[in-house]
Amino acid sequence: MKLRSVRGTHDLFGDEILKFNKIYSTVMKFSKLNSFNELQTPIFEFSELFSKPLGEESDVVLKEMYTFSDRNKDLLTLRPEYTTPMIRAAITNNLLNELPLKIFGIGPMFRRERPQKGRYRQFNQINFEILGSNDFIADLELIILANDILKTLIPETEYVLNINTLGYRDDLFKYKEKLSKYFSQKITKLSEESKKRIYSNPLRILDSKQENDISISNNAPKIQDNISIEPKQHFEEIKKELKNLNIDFNENHNLVRGLDYYCSTVFEFKTANLGSQDTILGGGRYDGLIKTLGGPDIPGIGWAAGIERISILMKKTQYGISKLHLAISDEKFKNHLLKIINYLKENHISFYWNYKYNFKRSLSKANSDNAKYVIIIGEREFNEDFFTIKELSSTKQTELKISQIKNFINDKS
Ligand code: HAM
Repeated sequence: MKLRSVRGTHDLFGDEILKFNKIYSTVMKFSKLNSFNELQTPIFEFSELFSKPLGEESDVVLKEMYTFSDRNKDLLTLRPEYTTPMIRAAITNNLLNELPLKIFGIGPMFRRERPQKGRYRQFNQINFEILGSNDFIADLELIILANDILKTLIPETEYVLNINTLGYRDDLFKYKEKLSKYFSQKITKLSEESKKRIYSNPLRILDSKQENDISISNNAPKIQDNISIEPKQHFEEIKKELKNLNIDFNENHNLVRGLDYYCSTVFEFKTANLGSQDTILGGGRYDGLIKTLGGPDIPGIGWAAGIERISILMKKTQYGISKLHLAISDEKFKNHLLKIINYLKENHISFYWNYKYNFKRSLSKANSDNAKYVIIIGEREFNEDFFTIKELSSTKQTELKISQIKNFINDKS
């Protein structure tokens, strides 16, 4: 047997696991800051949990779910997304007694898609949800949270926020009918994929990437002309606050999202640097979904981001482990080295030393690891009882007594 991994799956090690852990710790930090509680669900559920809410005609349900029959004939599915399992867990564990419920989770999802850069069959998602509030401030909070997390992990120039509103579910239902009628008149010019969606999922034709579909969609009835006053106002409030907060966004009327449960606000953070897999993070409102799944008639909103997609866009400086390296020129100064090692450990400052008594090799390791500082121990440092800190970005050097090192590093970070 030839040993190999399953297509579309990948092992995490080296830089990839460092990035994963950095993403994980960033999510933990921001979830605490924003009072979200973690909720982990099993990786498989009864299949019926997904098929209706995600849309019988959605790509995920039609082509991508890993579904299997258990020995007792129960139909089970590896979770393709986190929102429906989160809601299932909130209902079955009676978590909806006190609202709003603010929950988050991180973990693997499974979709049988064609693997390519940024698209896998097992991938990891970060997922945040607020159940039980229809205040626009909940929408805003989630968008800001998404922005804060992304901005900590990847350069802001890498992504753009796109937002849209789909109106109430009734608005959307009527709008879909109008769209089906419009597209059916243009059927001969549509791509094969879009032809199949005319009646089942006409909204998806709007975000088709085929040239012909795009030009036909440009003249299609506009969602904005088919929306009730309240969701329109709700959307205006969000836009106004985003402007006040100086968060750049692009109002994209073709943004519809791929799953059926959305209504009202939808949003995506897109990048130009991931080829066709250009969405890093996506979400929106799903008022009505909780009731459909057997819970109370309360609204909900959330988002999910793909960890692998964020990871591709991360720069080394954003996930390197030890920003402080040590370099010593000779074994004769070992006692001075041990002094600083003990000091750094006592003060919980992480550091790296390559066990070499060789400046050149230690400095070159520090450079290749993108270290921020190197503490240098040479003859003068040993004789005069101080340490030299070299900042690699500027090559600036500062001479410090051991007790000054902690403050120096903290002030600079
Ligand atoms: P989604 O747009 O299907 O939404 O997925 C969210 C994110 O997961 C995508 O933007 C992408 O970064 C990542 N992703 C999706 N499929 C793959 C794949 N095959 N390989 C790698 N990454 C992938 C949802 O899943 C909704 N549940 C989001 C949500 C939460 N809406 C409300 N609450």
